[in-house]
Amino acid sequence: MPLTGTALVTGGAGFIGSHIAAALSAVGARVRVLDDLSTGHRENLDEIGGDIEFIQGSVADEDVLQNALDGVEVVFHEAAIPSVPRSVEAPRQTHIASVDGTFSLLLAARDNNVRRVVYAASSSAYGDQPTLPKAEQMLPDPLSPYAVAKLVGEYYCQVFTRVYGLETVSLRYFNVFGPRQDPSSQYSGVVSRFISSLLGDERPVIFGDGEQSRDFTYIDNVVAANLSAANAPGASGKVINVANGERITLNELLAELKDLTGKQDVTAEYREPRVGDVRHSLADNSMARELLGFESKVGLREGLKRTIDWWKSSRFNPRQH
Ligand code: UD1
Repeated sequence: MPLTGTALVTGGAGFIGSHIAAALSAVGARVRVLDDLSTGHRENLDEIGGDIEFIQGSVADEDVLQNALDGVEVVFHEAAIPSVPRSVEAPRQTHIASVDGTFSLLLAARDNNVRRVVYAASSSAYGDQPTLPKAEQMLPDPLSPYAVAKLVGEYYCQVFTRVYGLETVSLRYFNVFGPRQDPSSQYSGVVSRFISSLLGDERPVIFGDGEQSRDFTYIDNVVAANLSAANAPGASGKVINVANGERITLNELLAELKDLTGKQDVTAEYREPRVGDVRHSLADNSMARELLGFESKVGLREGLKRTIDWWKSSRFNPRQH
């Protein structure tokens, strides 16, 4: 990928951002990471190695942004406070990180002549749209403060393209999982929670009946979409789904993980469904195929295997705690 200037990854010490930073570094780009370490970890950057510049600070801080955007050609904007239930508990934090953060970033990107901003949007924007698969032309129906905040970021991206000519691409990620996803909070992604419980011989918790479904997407596919989005002609100003393109219920996911970890005897503990939870999620990937040349190269089972392998050799291994 021909990137002549610096690539800035906001939230680059987090799960998704650290994978994007690693891939950019591997293709020879100059990489800078901006992260306030509120949910990210310095260890993620240590793990990927390479020559990556790190700035600790918030995307909502204008002075920090001036410094971070110096000489930057493309921004991969991953910084946010993830999690639907966390946003239900603490909506202001989610709002400040996603809405104020994205707005400040776009303004500073415009003023620093950044060529393109690739924005981490979310499948949560669709909410409980009854039609599956979910395609970009459907009306959004956010069910949580997190979903609203991510959706507002998309609208700002599109308006900055229309009004100021700043190129932006919003990638609506569908339930991303993989190595370095932090399992340690009650708000962590379900794949990391399930693996952590199974390897620690604890009972995984399922909120609701477990028949809700998700389009779980392996991290490498998301990284590939980001690298394409940095240059793809015709993608600017667009909102594009990025997903595996298949859905599985949580009960099925747990069965798959029990099989892969050999923990057949562990049973789930069922609790009340979460407020703000979407029932079913599945993406139509055709726009990503058309505009980004995207294909989901690593399928669900292979992705789960790779994630479990990483766990067994990682600092998060529950047996080491
Ligand atoms: C949502 C978004 C996703 C976004 C993510 C950020 C949708 C469809 N997806 O994910 O695009 O990137 O927020 O955080 O809105 N669950 C359990 N047990 C657990 C943890 C979770 O049963 O220990 C359940 C949840 O109630 C939910 C499902 O698993 O039904 C997935 O939850 P989670 O991994 O938190 O992601 P979403 O909220 O679907």
